[in-house]
Amino acid sequence: MERFLRSLVVVGLQWGDEGKGKVVDLLSQDVLHVVRGQGGNNAGHTIAVEGKEFKLHVIPSGILRPQTKCYIGGGVVFDPFAFFEEIESLGKNFDKDRLFLSPYAHVIFPYHRELDGVQEGKRAGGAIGTTGKGIGPCYGDKALRMGVRVADLLDRKLLEKRLKEVFSIKQAELSQKKPADLEGLVSKYAEVGLRLKDFVAPVEEMLFVASSKKEPILLEGAQGTFLDNTFGSYPFVTSSSTLASGIAMGAGIGPSRIDGVLGVFKAFTTRVGEGPFPTEVKEGIFPHPEEVREIGTTTGRKRRIGWLDIPLLQRAIVLNGVDMLAMTKIDALDGMKELKICVGYKKKEHFPCGLCEWESAEPIYETHPGWEGSEGVQSYGSLPSNARRYIRRIEELVSMPITLISHGPSREKALWMGRIFDE
Ligand code: IMP
Repeated sequence: MERFLRSLVVVGLQWGDEGKGKVVDLLSQDVLHVVRGQGGNNAGHTIAVEGKEFKLHVIPSGILRPQTKCYIGGGVVFDPFAFFEEIESLGKNFDKDRLFLSPYAHVIFPYHRELDGVQEGKRAGGAIGTTGKGIGPCYGDKALRMGVRVADLLDRKLLEKRLKEVFSIKQAELSQKKPADLEGLVSKYAEVGLRLKDFVAPVEEMLFVASSKKEPILLEGAQGTFLDNTFGSYPFVTSSSTLASGIAMGAGIGPSRIDGVLGVFKAFTTRVGEGPFPTEVKEGIFPHPEEVREIGTTTGRKRRIGWLDIPLLQRAIVLNGVDMLAMTKIDALDGMKELKICVGYKKKEHFPCGLCEWESAEPIYETHPGWEGSEGVQSYGSLPSNARRYIRRIEELVSMPITLISHGPSREKALWMGRIFDE
């Protein structure tokens, strides 16, 4: 299948951690622009290049390709201090002239992180298991028109005015009675604003010009479909729209400029944090999370693991308008005696909406024989025959071919079934 697209959204089809970072890194070999449109440093993309592992959080995965320009869009929530730490971790792989930040992005302040913790502790229905990065409170302030944007950091007077407007409300929310150091906060963030000046750029116009010139653009999603604030397993979700349309909106790119949607899913299912997970398998069947690299990049938490869930994928295809698929981590299933695929939920006429529906979703499974040795084989034909059968069965169930199969962490461990971008 040859498509030769100009702009492509890469979106996660499960609960995040599908391996989008690796897929974006692979695809960015052929693209000039990579943009993040939503989420913040709650995301964690691990990419292995020449034996070295890079952990990216808010900087787009395209940064590891020397020809690629990277953009942080206005829909992102942005922690400036975490951003500079990430730059430091990239060392000489980081090139300042290739990274651009939209002034529309909302800034995460220490009170957002504190509120994240306080709210988690007080939730009567149990914690969501957030990353603790202040994502929810920052998006909340944006919706309530109490946010501070990157543009405001660039002007000390404006920053002071904005922070004065909201600071006492935040203090009350945190039940802090001692006089707070507003002046100190203004100074700290005005200073970091000066350091950010060089990155701030008219991202939306730059991408519009690029798309008018038909230059390839990748829109890199963060989190996954079922963490979406509207259509996910609410309230156990993140606070941004994680769907293809939300990613494009946050990047400031209009729908007429999007050519395709690549949905990325893992060969099984994982979830980190609390919330429903119909095909979750308790300890003992899957290898230990450490053995299959299922430790969260951002929080170091062990991910919950379960069987591949077809109703979930089908729903994600609908919500995102997916027209191409990438499957990751088939190698993590090497050595399992047998595997299950959830092909439906018992007695369910529609996809779960309310929490009770989610929690009562009882999977209908079919069982498939396992395989050994899929990691790093050189061609699709060299995959173990049971692995190929597993792949074909998934394609049949979702009625869509799989364009890319990733079978190991490094760049070369990827099998392409067709090109997506022209060379
Ligand atoms: P928050 O985004 O930190 O508010 O967390 C809300 C939920 O989304 C929690 O269950 C997190 O574990 C989950 N989450 C947030 N970011 C990611 C991610 O990048 N991968 C997987 N789960 C995530």
